[in-house]
Amino acid sequence: MISKETIEQVLLRNDVETVIGGYVSLKRAGSNLKGLCPFHSEKTPSFTVYPQDNSFYCFGCGAGGDVINFIRKRENLDYPDAVEFLADRAGITIVRDERGSSYSPTPKFDRAKMFRMNADAAKYFHARLFDNTPKSAAALEYFTKSRGLSLAVIKHFGLGFAPDSFDEFSKYMTSKGYTYDELVAGFLVGRSDKGGYYDAFRNRVMFPIIDVSGNVIAFGGRVMDDSKPKYKNSSDTPVFKKSRNLFALNFARLSCAETMILCEGYMDVIAMHSAGFTNAVATLGTAITSEQARMMSRYTKKVIISYDADEAGQKAAMRAIGMLSEVGLDVTILKVPGAKDPDEYIKTYGADKFRSLLESSKTRFEYNSENILSRHDLNLPHDKIKALHEMEKLISETYSSAERDIYIRSTAKKFEVDPKSVKADVDRIIAKATSQYKKEAAGKMRQDAIGYSDRVNPDFIKAPAAAKNEEAVLGLLLLYPEHRKYVFEGDTLTPDDFFTSLGKRIFEYLKTAYSEGDDAHLGIGEVFSEDELGRITRMKISRMQLTENGREVLTSAIAALKKSVDKKASQKTNTYEGLNQLLMRKRGD
Ligand code: UTP
Ligand code: MN
Repeated sequence: MISKETIEQVLLRNDVETVIGGYVSLKRAGSNLKGLCPFHSEKTPSFTVYPQDNSFYCFGCGAGGDVINFIRKRENLDYPDAVEFLADRAGITIVRDERGSSYSPTPKFDRAKMFRMNADAAKYFHARLFDNTPKSAAALEYFTKSRGLSLAVIKHFGLGFAPDSFDEFSKYMTSKGYTYDELVAGFLVGRSDKGGYYDAFRNRVMFPIIDVSGNVIAFGGRVMDDSKPKYKNSSDTPVFKKSRNLFALNFARLSCAETMILCEGYMDVIAMHSAGFTNAVATLGTAITSEQARMMSRYTKKVIISYDADEAGQKAAMRAIGMLSEVGLDVTILKVPGAKDPDEYIKTYGADKFRSLLESSKTRFEYNSENILSRHDLNLPHDKIKALHEMEKLISETYSSAERDIYIRSTAKKFEVDPKSVKADVDRIIAKATSQYKKEAAGKMRQDAIGYSDRVNPDFIKAPAAAKNEEAVLGLLLLYPEHRKYVFEGDTLTPDDFFTSLGKRIFEYLKTAYSEGDDAHLGIGEVFSEDELGRITRMKISRMQLTENGREVLTSAIAALKKSVDKKASQKTNTYEGLNQLLMRKRGD
């Protein structure tokens, strides 16, 4: 057995994106990444990496799991060797004890020294802004003139300048006692294929990233012209994980505001803080993760999303709303009129205008309904009908029926129609979507049944509908600690509620892990086979793709599961079982 601490360290320091990116060429697709599957041959990418869940899944062949399972399959290693492989990669030494049965991690990198190294680097970059050279002067001018920042703000954020040199920085840092290994691990220095070293940030203005304890943990560096890439950011290092940190949270958490503002860019945050909105934070060049959402919920109750005005920004805002609402935050969206982003808005219209804009931020429903109303002229009957239909569709997407009721009333009033007819329409849309979903699910199951019997979960085919319900419940439990707390502390479900043996085993595993205070994903690869892990990952990601995963969804999934299991017990034969037997006979098994 490998100790849980070892597995935790190994998972923490080997993010899927970087590890898998070393084997598969990945392209960003929304908040995920896609590439050609290394486990089966394909021409169009169905292999997907989910950075927020630290997992991968291939829709073509069903391979999936965490980074340990990836290495296990790819390098053809057994579980302990895959863990050791990744430990080595991350600079963790694993020591087997005398009996050879347990491992303990001794980090190769001294964390305190890594923090000192980053702090020294930040001081170095900051000092370079004030050197008496033309390049330094140009960098300072970029901040003060082009971006309108005061010296006080530059100092407050510790902004800096990385000189246009391949070794000036590393020469200084090694003279201070930091080794090349440490500098490379900290993403401050790169190693060339020939084994030489070069400074990672060159001729860029620098934004240090500081954690909530005040440690400098990483950097973002921006070019001062239009060249690409605009920003270069630290990858994950032994002391930095970009999915677990937020820019300026170190300041924002001290502002003690009831609300936080979530932005897309470093510059937006800096503009807000300098205009007095010290409760603004930003993600670090990626879409917001559930970990970041959970972090924010520790410091605030309400979040105003203030992303770029372009379509990409607005789409990202809609996705962020889901992520933030799921952890119980009140969320509204801000639209900045007449500017490409909040930074430009504040510069053009000033802080007071921005404050009143903040007060007018909208809920998801308000935001979308205003969009609909602005696109139609309610004085034209034809247009009015179209707008009403779009409103009804929007209302149908609201999960809570009480909330739907409120929207139905206000919409009926606005359109001067009977609320009963709006309700009838909304109900019809919901019914249609549900039956469509069921039909697709049934079709998929039939295909599965005809194509092959389920190798990974042989019981599945005996009652696919019930098995689907199992997968829904397990997916929710795997994804959300809140749900595990609710189910395991309330004894809401027992292993007997599951009838496929795989479902039972997953439930029992989760229950034990919960009682031992472990993360659901810790050591899961030791208990389940490679193929089973693929299936487990599918259960999770098929839930991740849905917008509503709250308590109500969980309780109704549990109810459906209990009902389907009862039904299964009371039914002697089942269509699918019959079909399967028929097929088996045909194949001569
Ligand atoms: P923006 O392009 O909106 O950057 O990207 P910005 O911070 O507003 O900067 P200005 O105003 O153009 O100078 C938003 C965020 O996306 C990440 C950075 O974190 C940036 O702050 N990003 C952007 C990158 O990581 N790399 C890039 O090449 C571009
Ligand atoms: Mn910008």
